Amino acid sequence: MSHNFQRSPGVVNLRLWENAERASNYVAHQIAELIIAQQKIGESAVLGLATGNTPKAVYQELVRLHRHDGLSFANVVSFNLDEYYPILPGDKNSYNYFMHEHLFKHIDIAPENIHIPQGNCATDAVSELCSDYEAKIAGVGGLDLQLLGIGRNGHVGFNEPGSTLDSTTRLVELHPVTRNDAQADFGSLDRVPVQAISMGMATIIQAKRILLLALGERKSEIINKAINGAITPEVPGSMLRHLPHVEYVVDREAGAGVL
Ligand code: F6R
Repeated sequence: MSHNFQRSPGVVNLRLWENAERASNYVAHQIAELIIAQQKIGESAVLGLATGNTPKAVYQELVRLHRHDGLSFANVVSFNLDEYYPILPGDKNSYNYFMHEHLFKHIDIAPENIHIPQGNCATDAVSELCSDYEAKIAGVGGLDLQLLGIGRNGHVGFNEPGSTLDSTTRLVELHPVTRNDAQADFGSLDRVPVQAISMGMATIIQAKRILLLALGERKSEIINKAINGAITPEVPGSMLRHLPHVEYVVDREAGAGVL
């Protein structure tokens, strides 16, 4: 029995899975297939990666495929979506730390192929860092696949409500909902950075393929808005929905209100 339903093409590509494990495995295997396909033609696979709770099981499955099925990441070039600012790369709440803990230290990706916005960059060097980030992505031929989560306020990356489709990598102010959701990690609200460096909406939508993963009941309201509500910069995740190369990959709990 298949637990996977797809809406009519041209409306929104929605893949609804029975549970978080299946949704995460689907995403992990799409990534693995891309890596292998690129290996076969002697090319690199350029991945746009996300952090947070949502992709943890995706990375777990990719690590399992590396350990048990011999999946190599030697041809992978990665670009993370975002990083808090300011933050030290070794801080346990940095996205740099997260990525090494959950993925990079377990696989054979070349360290020089890993790109994460530098959270401890000097203030007067941030805008150059952002344009360099864009140039580096363009320099490797663009992102082949971008993995996204979605915030409860509809943000993708740290493109908070109000972000427009022409935005590129830049310093952003974090929205109160975003900072609130991060306070458990940081221990208190005043320790949560007020800014971040994030790829822009334009950076993201230029990826050849985008998988937006949403899991669990706490995402059901925003997924319903992103898929059925107004298409508006106030819900950045809604602006992706008519793009043919975007798939919303959702478990039953997050998708409860959608169909
Ligand atoms: C993380 C990112 C954010 C998260 C979003 C959901 O790199 O860009 O947009 O995807 O905040 O976070 P979780 O998955 O923790 O609910």
